[in-house]
Amino acid sequence: MIIDWYPGHMKKAKEQIAEALPKIDLIIEVLDARLPVSSANPILAYLRRDKPCIKVLNKQDLADDAVTREWVRYFDRQQNVSAIPLEAKERRSANALLKLGRKMVPGRGIRGLKPLRVMVAGIPNVGKSTLINTMAGKKIARVGDKPAITTCHQQVDLRNGILLNDTPGLLWPKLDDQAGARHLAASGAIGENAYDTSSVAVATIAELSASYPNLLKQRYKLPELPETAQMVLEEIGRRRGCLVSGGEVDLHRAAELFLRELRDGKIGRISLERPPMTPSGTD
Ligand code: G4P
Repeated sequence: MIIDWYPGHMKKAKEQIAEALPKIDLIIEVLDARLPVSSANPILAYLRRDKPCIKVLNKQDLADDAVTREWVRYFDRQQNVSAIPLEAKERRSANALLKLGRKMVPGRGIRGLKPLRVMVAGIPNVGKSTLINTMAGKKIARVGDKPAITTCHQQVDLRNGILLNDTPGLLWPKLDDQAGARHLAASGAIGENAYDTSSVAVATIAELSASYPNLLKQRYKLPELPETAQMVLEEIGRRRGCLVSGGEVDLHRAAELFLRELRDGKIGRISLERPPMTPSGTD
């Protein structure tokens, strides 16, 4: 059970974005490359209409390259949308992003021409602040990276032809779809108090047993995967010494360990979501 932890603020955040949009040339929507559907909020597509939008598939270092390439092809087919996989901390990723932005909005963003006015938007923890700091080449303090806090909109001149709108662009995760909510929990995008760690771990193991069985076997030195996901988690716990007195497996600790390793990329590069019509399983 995943608890909806964004009860308020949504209306205000939506209003702020809608209010800022007329002064924006390009929306940079930051997504998690491992879960581009669940880490998006469709309200942005509704608000932006035809405004050019770059879908940043961030944390590509943690995602399955082949699947990420499929996502780029998928998004590139959409009207006025381009997608780019990147790692927000990398300077050359930010440069490639800005180059793409200038291409999407001709006549802006080059010194001497009109500036390119951008807004960075996305749900929490996808890497917005990291990306903004890399684009700016320094740490930028945003007025309030929480919905409904910023009241006066400013534009930050990144001094490279880019004007960054200071609207937080903070969207809320959609938690109404249980599989999507689970992907968000597994990726670390939502707080641990909002979900049951063991159920998220078991459900994620079930998915990985189908799509990345070899990565699971390699990481946990399992010659074969036990029959059920629950049994896989128990085996992980046993092998990693997550035990309670009496030798029983401490499932909660095993689940925490598994999710931590998944988030840190220790199990391998894993995508939890694939574009429609992409066959599952690449390992
Ligand atoms: P936000 O503004 O959208 O809320 O996200 P933020 O930049 O704070 O990033 C959330 C977490 O994601 C941070 O980790 C950050 O380092 C990590 N991150 C951002 N981009 C990438 C990326 O391309 N690859 C990987 N692997 N991680 C990325 P944290 O542990 O919460 O903080 P920190 O200790 O790393 O600063």
